[in-house]
Amino acid sequence: MSDKIFKALIVDEQDDSVISSVKEWSVDRLSEGDTLVEVDYSAINYKDALATIKNGGVIRSYPMIPGIDFSGTIIETTHDGLKVGDKVVVTGQGTGVSHTGGFSEIARVPGEWIQVVPQEMDLKVAAFVGTAGITAAQAIHRLESIGLNDKEASILITGATGGVGSMAINLLKAHGFTNITALSRKNSTDYLETLGVQHIISTDEMLENTRPLQKQEFDYVIDTIGGVTLEAILPKISYGGGIALCGNASGIKFNTTVLPFILRGITMFGIDSVQLTSDEKKELWQTINQSITKEMVDSTISNEVSLEGILSVTKQLLEGTHSGRTIVSIK
Ligand SMILES: NC(=O)c1ccc[n+]([C@@H]2O[C@H](COP(=O)([O-])OP(=O)(O)OC[C@H]3O[C@@H](n4cnc5c(N)ncnc54)[C@H](OP(=O)(O)O)[C@@H]3O)[C@@H](O)[C@H]2O)c1
Repeated sequence: MSDKIFKALIVDEQDDSVISSVKEWSVDRLSEGDTLVEVDYSAINYKDALATIKNGGVIRSYPMIPGIDFSGTIIETTHDGLKVGDKVVVTGQGTGVSHTGGFSEIARVPGEWIQVVPQEMDLKVAAFVGTAGITAAQAIHRLESIGLNDKEASILITGATGGVGSMAINLLKAHGFTNITALSRKNSTDYLETLGVQHIISTDEMLENTRPLQKQEFDYVIDTIGGVTLEAILPKISYGGGIALCGNASGIKFNTTVLPFILRGITMFGIDSVQLTSDEKKELWQTINQSITKEMVDSTISNEVSLEGILSVTKQLLEGTHSGRTIVSIK
């Protein structure tokens, strides 16, 4: 098996730039692991887009196969509790960053990174959920732990047409929340209307007022963009509310005051889906599995591409013009 040849998207350094192309690769050039998976599907995340550009800050060593998520079937394993034929999914960990990832017909990983796909879920849906779904589910779970419970609570999602944003909307709706506001830079609201949010707000509208305390509009927030928009959101969070920081699509810096924290007692915390334990991930997969519907999958998958089609989509993600989840059909 070690000399088996297959196709993968390879990102490599060349002179002063980073080049990505689909090439033939062999199992012995994959990162180490006790389990080989024939990959059926992957999905494209913002981090995967950063992995294809110079100074993206994602890839630790070249050449690398990006793809932080994949689902597929085990074809070889010596890991306790796993067997050939198991349908599995891998999200986060070091895949596509420091360990060869999922934009590949074959992947090799340590068995402890693997989740067996819930019986009722197919492999395409598992890739669709991917890191975006796990991150959104984790953010919701943490917000629930600080009081998110009332189904009419006002909840704001930023970067709403993105992977994490879309999955957060889907999962909140499935949990019965009925007062969701989507914040988006996009002019077209068609996609968000299809997802079924109750309100849509533009970034410009959010940035209108910059006083340190403003009208209390949102009880809870899932933020995927950071930057100046985050600065504008904190003064609008209701007394006792909270915000989960998931991403930095618009920037890593923000300036704020202590007032929303000391006068309104709001809670702000960070989400890291990469280093979740296997048991924590298993629990999140079970929650997600209870929420997934065909309608949700159909409205959120915007595109399905082959390995060769990945780079046109990563470009859209980097430009902020992409909506929803693009699935990579590998097999
Ligand atoms: N903490 C974790 O474990 C974790 C896990 C997954 C992802 N993330 C992070 O979460 C963020 C979102 O990831 P994703 O995979 O959902 O990305 P994505 O699909 O590209 O979505 C990001 C969304 O943010 C908005 N956006 C993009 N560029 C922007 C800009 N310059 N200014 C303002 N808004 C912008 C766009 O939505 P609108 O057009 O609708 O505004 C875009 O659709 C990324 O920063 C990613 O690294 C973190």
